[in-house]
Amino acid sequence: MPIKYIPEKQIWVITTDLTDYVIGVDAEGILQHVYWGGKQPLLLDYMDLPKSIEHPGGGPIGPHRDEIMPWGGLRFTEPGIKLTFSDHIRDLHLIYDRHELLNSDQLVIYLKDTLKPLTVKLNYKVIKEYDLIERYVEIVNEGTEGLQIEQLMGAIWHLPVYPEYRLTYLAGLSRGETQVRTEWIQEGKKVLESRHGRTSHQFNPWFAIDFGQTTEEYGDVYFGAIAFSGNWKIVIEKTPYQTLQVATGFNDFDFGWTLKPGEILRSPICIGGFTAKGFGEASRQMHRYQKKYILRNGHKVRKVMYNSWYATEFDVTEEGQRRLAEQAAKLGVELFVVDDGWFGARDHDRAGLGDWFPNKRKFPKGLHPLIQHVKSLGMDFGIWVEPEMVNRDSDLYRSHPDWVYRFPGRRNTEQRNQLVLNLSRPDVEEYIFSMLDDLLSNHEIDYIKWDMNRSFSEPGWPEAPPEHHKEIWVRHVLGVYRILERLQRKHPHVAFESCSGGGARIDLGIMRYIDNVWPSDNTDPFDRLFIQEGYTYAYNTKAMLCWVTDVPDENNLRTTTLKYRFHSAMIGSLGIGLNLNKCSELELQECKKYIRQYKEIRPIIQDGDLYRILSPRSSYGAAFQYVSPDRSRSVLFVFRHRQQFRHPFPPIQLRGLDPEAVYLCRQLGIKRSGTSLMTRGISLDLRGDYASELIVFEKDINY
Ligand code: GLA
Repeated sequence: MPIKYIPEKQIWVITTDLTDYVIGVDAEGILQHVYWGGKQPLLLDYMDLPKSIEHPGGGPIGPHRDEIMPWGGLRFTEPGIKLTFSDHIRDLHLIYDRHELLNSDQLVIYLKDTLKPLTVKLNYKVIKEYDLIERYVEIVNEGTEGLQIEQLMGAIWHLPVYPEYRLTYLAGLSRGETQVRTEWIQEGKKVLESRHGRTSHQFNPWFAIDFGQTTEEYGDVYFGAIAFSGNWKIVIEKTPYQTLQVATGFNDFDFGWTLKPGEILRSPICIGGFTAKGFGEASRQMHRYQKKYILRNGHKVRKVMYNSWYATEFDVTEEGQRRLAEQAAKLGVELFVVDDGWFGARDHDRAGLGDWFPNKRKFPKGLHPLIQHVKSLGMDFGIWVEPEMVNRDSDLYRSHPDWVYRFPGRRNTEQRNQLVLNLSRPDVEEYIFSMLDDLLSNHEIDYIKWDMNRSFSEPGWPEAPPEHHKEIWVRHVLGVYRILERLQRKHPHVAFESCSGGGARIDLGIMRYIDNVWPSDNTDPFDRLFIQEGYTYAYNTKAMLCWVTDVPDENNLRTTTLKYRFHSAMIGSLGIGLNLNKCSELELQECKKYIRQYKEIRPIIQDGDLYRILSPRSSYGAAFQYVSPDRSRSVLFVFRHRQQFRHPFPPIQLRGLDPEAVYLCRQLGIKRSGTSLMTRGISLDLRGDYASELIVFEKDINY
C-alpha cells in the first residue's frame, strides 16, 4: 500500500519505491510535516513529530513545519494560504478534520477553520515507481458569504534540517532560456517567479536542492516543479533556525480571487521528488513521469519536422511553400509546418494577428491545394497560430477593441506590435475555440504550433466587477487549457506544439495538452547545448524541438558545420529550418544522411534514458548519452568547444549500460564490456573547434 495510516498516532506514511513522505497531526490538531527522504526500515521510525523550536523566553517560536502554512498565529514564513473573510478577519486556523484514501494511491486530508465554515483539502497522489508526489490544495467556501483569497500555494515542501543547502534552478532570457544556475542558500528568501502572465523566459517553475556534495551520479537531491503556465512562484526560504521550506504555487503578486459561497479554488498541481542518486537520476525520474503520465501522446514517435520560419519569415506563398515542401520530402522529413505569415494582412508583424483566414494574395485558392500537395509528398501538414493575440491593425481588433486586457483611458503597451486578448472573458474564450475548431474542421491539419509572443501588461478587465479583476492571471491560463482540451477532444489526431517567443511556455501544466515544445528561438547549435542541457534538468527531451538552421547563425554570427548542427539538434526531436532552396546538392545529401541516421536511432533518443555525461558548462566540451530501456543500444553525442595546444579530448565514461554485457561499436571498431565502457571509458580523436561525434553502441548478443 503506497499510503499507510496509523490511526492511534494520526500519522500518514506516503511510500514510493525508494522514499517515504510522512505527515502527522500534532496535539493541537495541526497537520505537521514529519519526514521526507530515503526509506527508514520501520514504521516506528516515524512515530515522533518534530519538536517546535523554543523561544529563549519560553514557548514555541512557531509551527515551523506546518504542512500548508495558513497565514495566522505564529507563522512568519511564506504562507501557503492567505485570505480575508467577508467580515475582514484575516486569521486562518486550520485543524485536522478527516481524511480519505482514494484508489490506494491518493490521499485527501480535510482541514477546517476552527471558527469559519471553510474547508481546505490537501490532495496527495503517489507516483510510486518514480519516487514522486503530486500535491495540490483546494479551498472550499462552505459559508454564506464570499471571501477573498490573496495567496494559494499547491505545496509547502519541508526539507530535513541540514547546515548547508544548495539550490539549482533554471534562469534565462529570450534566446538563452533554461540555463542551469547553482548557489548556496543563506537565510532569507530566494524567489523564482513569473509575473509575465506566461511561464516566462526568465525562470522556469522547477527547482532542486541538495546539501552541497551531490553530483550527477551520487547524492541526495530534493526537486520539484509547478504545473502551471501563468504567474507562478517558488519561494526557497531558509530560516535562522536552519530549517528550509520551499513554497510552490500561484504567484500572489497582483493576485486575488473572490470565492463565492459553495465555490472551490484549486491550486496548481505541484510535484516533488527525492533521490539519493544525484541530479541525473532526479531528471530521469521526471522524464519517465512526464512520458508516462503528463506529456500528450508520450508513447508516440515524434516525427522529423520542417518549419518554414527561418527560410521565408513573413514571405509565405503557396508557390514558395510548395517548393520547400518538395525539397523537405526528398530529405525524409515527415511533417511540414507553415509558420507565421499565411493569414490576414500578415506581411509583417504589425498586422493580421487575430484574422485567422488564409491571405487571398498568398493563397488564392485557400490552404487546400498546399495541404494536398504536402500530403501527396507523404508528409503531415502543420500550421502556426497565435490565438491569444491581436494586432491593432486587424479586423478582429477593429470589431472588438474591448476584447483586450486594458485599463480604460491609459496607454496600452504593445510588445511586438500586439495586445493580449482577454481570455478571462467567456465570450473571447468561446470565439477562440470556434475559430480554431473551424480551422481544424475545414482543413486536413495534423499539427498546430500554438505561439504566444508577449508578456502581459495593463492586465485590466474593465467589464468585470472589481472583485474579480485580479483573477485574470489564473483565469487566462485556465481558458487556454480549456480551449486545448476541447479542441483535442474534437480533433484527437491533431498534435500540438507550445511555443512562446521561444521557450516562455514550458511547464508541466501545458505539457498535458501538447506533444512538442519549442525551447528557444536561438538555434545556434553551440548555445543550444546550454539551453538544452538546462531543459533536460526538468523536462523530457522527447518533446524538445531542435532545428538545424542556416549559418552564420543570426544570434552570434557563428558558423558551424552541418554535422555539428545536426548532432546538437539530434539530442531532442529533430527539425529542419534551413532554407532548402539555397542548399547545395551536396548539403542536401548530407542532410538526408543525418535524417536517415536520426530515424534509426530515434527510438533510443525518444524512449531511452538520458545521461548528462559532460556539461557544456565545462571548459572543453559536452557529452550526452541515451540508453534504450532494455540497455541493448546506446547513443553518445560528444561536442568539443575548442581545441588548444593539441590537447586530446579527455576519455568519456559511459553510463547506464549493462555491466555484464559486451557492446559493439562499429564506428570505433571496438568491442568492450559494459563495465569497461563505464569505467575505463573511450578515447575519441575529436579535434578542432566545434567538433562533434555521434557514436552508437549495440549489445553483442553473441557474447
Ligand atoms: C516566435 C516563434 C518563432 C516563430 C515566430 C513567428 O518568435 O518563437 O518560432 O514562430 O514567432 O512570428
